[in-house]
Amino acid sequence: MSHHELDALQAALNTALNSLRIAMDRSKLSPLSQHAVDMHPLDSMDHVTPNDIYEARRAALACTTELKHLLQHPFEKTTETALSMYNFVAVQVFIYHGIVDHMGTAPSGISVDALQSELNLDSRKITTLLRYLSACGWVREIQNGVFALNRSSRFLLRGQRGRALMTHSNRMKIAEAVPRWFTHPEYKFSQSPSHTAFQLACNTTKPFFEWLKDNKDVLGPFVANVDVNLSSALRLGCTTYGPQAFGEYATPGILSDYPWETCMGSTIVDCGGGNGNLAISLANRFPGLRLIVQEREEMVVIAEANIKAHLNPNSADGTMVVEAHDFFTSQPHVGDNYTFMLRHVLHNWPEAQVVNILENLAAAAGPKSKILIIERVSGHFPVTHVQLENNAGNTADVTTPVSLVGEQTILNSSSLMPHALTLHLLCILNAHERTLDQWRDMIVQAGLVITGLYKLRAHVSILECRAIQT
Ligand SMILES: C[S@@+](CC[C@H](N)C(=O)[O-])C[C@H]1O[C@@H](n2cnc3c(N)ncnc32)[C@H](O)[C@@H]1O
Repeated sequence: MSHHELDALQAALNTALNSLRIAMDRSKLSPLSQHAVDMHPLDSMDHVTPNDIYEARRAALACTTELKHLLQHPFEKTTETALSMYNFVAVQVFIYHGIVDHMGTAPSGISVDALQSELNLDSRKITTLLRYLSACGWVREIQNGVFALNRSSRFLLRGQRGRALMTHSNRMKIAEAVPRWFTHPEYKFSQSPSHTAFQLACNTTKPFFEWLKDNKDVLGPFVANVDVNLSSALRLGCTTYGPQAFGEYATPGILSDYPWETCMGSTIVDCGGGNGNLAISLANRFPGLRLIVQEREEMVVIAEANIKAHLNPNSADGTMVVEAHDFFTSQPHVGDNYTFMLRHVLHNWPEAQVVNILENLAAAAGPKSKILIIERVSGHFPVTHVQLENNAGNTADVTTPVSLVGEQTILNSSSLMPHALTLHLLCILNAHERTLDQWRDMIVQAGLVITGLYKLRAHVSILECRAIQT
């Protein structure tokens, strides 16, 4: 009997895993292990994953997800979903009550009895919690009642970046408000950032960032010592912490998979550049680039402090400046000497505002200026820059095929993260997910044309545009 789908997935998974093994050996990387005490080089947030490993891993993950969908009983899937709120809550308890940090001091494992006496928590509850976390892949039960951290949970330790992601204590309330939001008489067709599930959940009329400015305490007790950038930004009243963290995850791919050397002759204007993290990373990686971070007035001091703390002190004077600018007004930097860049900015705005922001850049751009839109492009789309650049090194698409499953399946199933993130940003900001055709429509309306489309080793792509000269 032909088990068509099962056979196809099994073959695809084998191909992907074999490719992964070969690629890791080629890069001289140690084997991945859930028993390892230390994080693996592939867990780095600062280095991009080699192309062949990146592609093989995506394909393998897509196959395992599809296999689970194929094999799992619908009742179990429904029950897991009905109880999925415990995924978040269990990790919160794990962090909040010091369990993860305590286990971090005992790499070879610690008993629940020891955790009870040292943390003054009930070992019976801890056992059930840790067994749940073990099933989710966060810890290992190495013998009955003795648990140890693994690579994933090390990411949650004090001082590690994963910790910051678990801070926002209103997420459950926001998620609960989503069904009401879909049918709310005033909000249901609104594209306003003041008409989201977030306002219903928090009983406010303020948009998310405005509200956060007055309610920094929701970021909660985890924030202390989380990250130098984050805590200094919060002290200064930074309002862009949440979504910006996701931008940071994409930074290594952004730096590695776009030919930034082609921007050397111009100054890059980072419009809505937040605390300047992307601009700082670019300046530190490509000495000689010059950058201007444009932001709302109240963000200027934050970006300046961040630059002072993190820009390579050997950078040439004037490498980076910050200026207050509202991107709904005309762009003061005009002509071929400027490249304009927007990361995770346009997805916050409905179509009319996106066109307006881009029109201001089209009016300022010279014939050679590039406008770089760094955003998620949903759905499957071709790269267009391979012919333009003739630079095989910086594209994931020119690697040997590592998978027997299609790109659409890989896009859909290799990671839930971009889908979850898109849904979350919709629910708190009314942020817009867009396909290539939808991006192109707005870009053309604004008087721009797409000249290159770069797929990155990241959940975002770069749409490279130029002004249509009239
Ligand atoms: C999601 S954040 C992205 C920040 C940064 N580009 C990044 O990728 O990390 C959006 C940014 O747009 C900025 N912004 C919002 N309205 C603006 C306006 N009218 N003019 C300039 N910046 C604005 C916000 O302050 C915020 O920093």
